[in-house]
Amino acid sequence: MIADSETQAGVSRKPSLFSSLPQVAGDEIFALSHAYIADNHPQKVSLGIGVYRTNEGKPWPLPSVRKAEEQLLAENDITRHEYLAIEGDVKFLDLARDLMFGFEDKNESPAQQQAKQRIASVQTVSGTGANHVGALFLAMYLKPKTIWLSNPSWANHTAIWDLAGVPRKTYPYYNAATRSFDFEGAMRTLEEEAQEGDAILLHACAHNPTGLDPTKEQWKAIADLCERKGIFPFFDSAYQGFASGSLEEDAWAVRYFFNEKPGMEMCVAQSFSKNCGLYGQRVGAFHLVTNGESPDLRERAVKNLCHIIRGEYSMAPRHGSEIVKKILTNEQLKAEWIQDLDVMSSRIKKMRKALYDELVRLGTPGTWEHIVKQNGMFSYTGLTPQQVLAMKEKYHIYLLKSGRASVSGLTEKNVEYVARAIDDVVRNVA
Ligand SMILES: Cc1ncc(COP(=O)(O)O)c(C=O)c1O
Repeated sequence: MIADSETQAGVSRKPSLFSSLPQVAGDEIFALSHAYIADNHPQKVSLGIGVYRTNEGKPWPLPSVRKAEEQLLAENDITRHEYLAIEGDVKFLDLARDLMFGFEDKNESPAQQQAKQRIASVQTVSGTGANHVGALFLAMYLKPKTIWLSNPSWANHTAIWDLAGVPRKTYPYYNAATRSFDFEGAMRTLEEEAQEGDAILLHACAHNPTGLDPTKEQWKAIADLCERKGIFPFFDSAYQGFASGSLEEDAWAVRYFFNEKPGMEMCVAQSFSKNCGLYGQRVGAFHLVTNGESPDLRERAVKNLCHIIRGEYSMAPRHGSEIVKKILTNEQLKAEWIQDLDVMSSRIKKMRKALYDELVRLGTPGTWEHIVKQNGMFSYTGLTPQQVLAMKEKYHIYLLKSGRASVSGLTEKNVEYVARAIDDVVRNVA
């Protein structure tokens, strides 16, 4: 720091108004990606960032997305770069909502029409933006005393709720001894400590980082608990269709809460980053589910959400949502997209099995069934931070300090190498 009277190159300088800025640790996932890119080792492996990779370790623009892009370009619509409305593209939002909540587009029943009226939707800057807009909205209008996050949760949930100024607490989620979801611990804590009006963050499927989801029976118990105690469910849905390959299966929990607890209000942050491979396009939606108490509640909710959006970034970007809209309105493209989801989810499952088989073949100490039982993109391997460090330093294999590995970084070529590295660090690093 240069004091008031000091000069540098003849210019006198006051202390900066920002001299007391705190040091902030960089985002672990992106820092790891940079380190991986800078590493020249021929056998390096990236198991850090949650992005889909092919068996050649390459990004995969989905064929259905490519076709949608080609069609959009051929249409040469001169309005294609115009502003969207503040709430976003209403047609896209209807399609995104129908996909999430499972509404049929043919032969609509009066009950379905009514159910749709409960949902206020706005387009967001992908899933992160949906989480953020939702957190701000709840902070302003629900004013929860506490947001309950699973322990552990996606690291960004912490930042998002801190920015919204809502105090956080955690409920147990990961049982390290059994490498499973600690359902009893979660229920006990919420039962004893959560207060009416609190909110709870629930991962709709493919829990990040553990890959462990509640069973259907457990989801039912969680829904009962939320209803009984008046806890507001906030679903984060970042992996619909990507986790299991089935759009229905991955939306089961959201749809159960919505259909079976019609009096309970809730919300959903929806992302199209993973299931459409549109990571950089930032396509998402936030859906607030009201109880339908009055005909204008939905509209008021949209207006209030728009107020937040206008002040934050005016409106979401357009190109990605045009692509998703094209896919979801064209039966053939939608069928191709569902095939693409199957390609991605099947490859990930195959890699889980390959890693598991290899560890068993090597006789690696410990149990490894969790690798095949976990769901979605991530595996919580159970490796310690020291073992993770050794994986990087000795083998140039990059995963998060928590032991979370993005399974999509595995390929038929590198899986044996990764298994041998795990075997070595498990045997030799405390
Ligand atoms: C649990 C969870 N929520 C939300 C997101 C949001 O991702 P995006 O902002 O790319 O849609 C992610 C992505 O990694 C995630 O894992």
